[in-house]
Amino acid sequence: MAPQDHGEDIEALLHELRRFAPPTDFSAHANVDASIYLEADRDPEAFWATQARQLSWETPFTTTLSWEPPQATWFGDGRLNASVNCLDRHLEAGLGSRVAYHWVGEPEGDRQSITYAQLHAMVCQAANALTALGVVAGDRVAIYMPMVPEAVVAMLACARIGAPHSVVFGGFSADALADRILDAGAEVVITADGGYRRGVASGLKVQVDEALERCPGVRSVLVVRRTGQAITMAEGRDHFWHELVETQPATHVPQAFGAEHPLYVMYTSGTTAKPKGILHTTAGYLTHVATTHRLVFDLKAETDVVWTAADIGWVTGHSYIVYGPLCNGATSVLYEGVPDAGGKDRWWRIVEEYGVTILYTAPTTIRTLMKWGEEYPMAHDRSSLRLLGSVGEPINPEAWMWYRRVVGENRCPIVDTWWQTETGGIMITPLPGVTTTKPGAAMRAFPGISVDVVDHEGRSVPNGEGGFLVVTKPWPGMTRGIWGDPERFVDTYWREFEGRYFAGDGAKRDDEGDLWLLGRVDDVMNVSGHRLSTAEVEHALVAHPAVAEAAVVGASDPTTGQAIVAFVTIRLDHENSDGLVEELRAHVGQVIGPIAKPRSILITPELPKTRSGKIMRRLLRDVAEHRTLGDTTTLVDPAVVQMIDDMMRASSDDE
Ligand code: WT7
Repeated sequence: MAPQDHGEDIEALLHELRRFAPPTDFSAHANVDASIYLEADRDPEAFWATQARQLSWETPFTTTLSWEPPQATWFGDGRLNASVNCLDRHLEAGLGSRVAYHWVGEPEGDRQSITYAQLHAMVCQAANALTALGVVAGDRVAIYMPMVPEAVVAMLACARIGAPHSVVFGGFSADALADRILDAGAEVVITADGGYRRGVASGLKVQVDEALERCPGVRSVLVVRRTGQAITMAEGRDHFWHELVETQPATHVPQAFGAEHPLYVMYTSGTTAKPKGILHTTAGYLTHVATTHRLVFDLKAETDVVWTAADIGWVTGHSYIVYGPLCNGATSVLYEGVPDAGGKDRWWRIVEEYGVTILYTAPTTIRTLMKWGEEYPMAHDRSSLRLLGSVGEPINPEAWMWYRRVVGENRCPIVDTWWQTETGGIMITPLPGVTTTKPGAAMRAFPGISVDVVDHEGRSVPNGEGGFLVVTKPWPGMTRGIWGDPERFVDTYWREFEGRYFAGDGAKRDDEGDLWLLGRVDDVMNVSGHRLSTAEVEHALVAHPAVAEAAVVGASDPTTGQAIVAFVTIRLDHENSDGLVEELRAHVGQVIGPIAKPRSILITPELPKTRSGKIMRRLLRDVAEHRTLGDTTTLVDPAVVQMIDDMMRASSDDE
């Protein structure tokens, strides 16, 4: 394992390093100052306990942390309800008329602003409906929805009755959905007929129907009418949301649950073909996301309009569209569609119209916006913006500079936030108004979080060197495990460096001790900010009858960060027909989802293998990235990879 090689770029960059101090008018009004680092360093547990007391507890906690590596219990004897923290307490504080979400559908004019009082009523109705369907605390509910308000309502209704939700991204296929429903043991699915994406009504219910052929344990399905498309409803199993939910009483008496009660399971890709169900529990998670949302984004809940431009089907949506902002009583934008639906200025129209103050998105999107040209943002008033955030993959300095200069008019601080599905919330980030920033660096651990960069033996590397990123102390939002697989939890994160959490990322400390993230060091790809494992895509490919063997690598891509490149050999009894590559791409889309379709597939007579039979992915990555081939001496036949390299070059010349 070696961190992917971004070393030289960073060296060059550090050379002409530009540091950005927070603008003075920003610093003067920031929520915190530098003393927060000292305070948290002195006693991290006390720091987190102070933050946790800002939640609303039915029974306050008396113990902060118990830590038996790798099992953490935070605020263990406290009791609370997550949905009360997101809703009821704001109503009690007289904030019922504040807007929780400005929802913007993809079709023009499709919009709705929902206050905290309205959201509360909707959640109560949905909680009553789920109860009527027999859902009780501890039952898992799968949610497969477009970006509509009911998706948030569904999550909060589950939280309210203590039923952990498992939201599955709407871009996943029926097969992928079925795998997740089965693994979580969900008996209820909440979905919609479809949603709007790129101007067309996609079908979700039809995918659910297909998935459920493999999931006999699912007894009820709730269906939101979004597009009005024709769907089939299974008698006794399927219920329309408007019939079952909207007829329920709009009040619901919540029950408190233990601090460690499971809040949700979110599936993410690991290094094997089987996705992992990452478990998050209640109090620690809420403390972490509320605190980071307030401090990293310098939130002023009365006046800010925050737009986390992510999908609810990923952890960014869970933490910074739903739980963090709602815990803080903030107003968010919830946008259903793609950035250029209705024109390449769609985003900037939303920013202008709603007066968005905080924008949080992924580098891949920034690069796409950048490619379209600055005339689109420039044509709209962006003076409301005051803070910009980035998440999901390392941000290249060019994109960082564009974000700062064009989008933020050189006056908005940028926070590059490193975290993962497993960490629950932001871990490494500048603090706006406090930390200076550097284009491409996530800078330093959030107060109360301890990280290190270590070598193979687990020793801290000195400034100026790279290594593996580890988290050295437990933190409140940390995953409590992999659903149904405690051994894999230990093996994946805790075995490599005893007592420390191994993130799977390479990192570097620069000469000033600031942190730069260098990408994954394992077989996990990051495509447009989405995590996918090479094994998962290989597994999908070899399931096709024509494929004998497959090797998949993530190759760097100017827009998507990494792109999926596959190398396959064909079974002897199959012809390499003209349409086969397209057929294989479609097949992967069918098995996993469109996000997993390889950018290119090269059909080759052989794959490069070592004498022990292992496919040398490292060399295939060299091929995919058009680099000079690395060391081939351990291969059985170095000519194989040379041939593949020639084929790759020939095929890209054709393009
Ligand atoms: C992986 C986690 C965090 C929510 C979205 C992705 C990469 C994430 C950054 C960043 C460099 C980053 C890492 C990490 N990553 N943020 N600011 N700089 N890399 O969550 O799907 O769990 O993926 O995304 O490689 O391990 P995820």
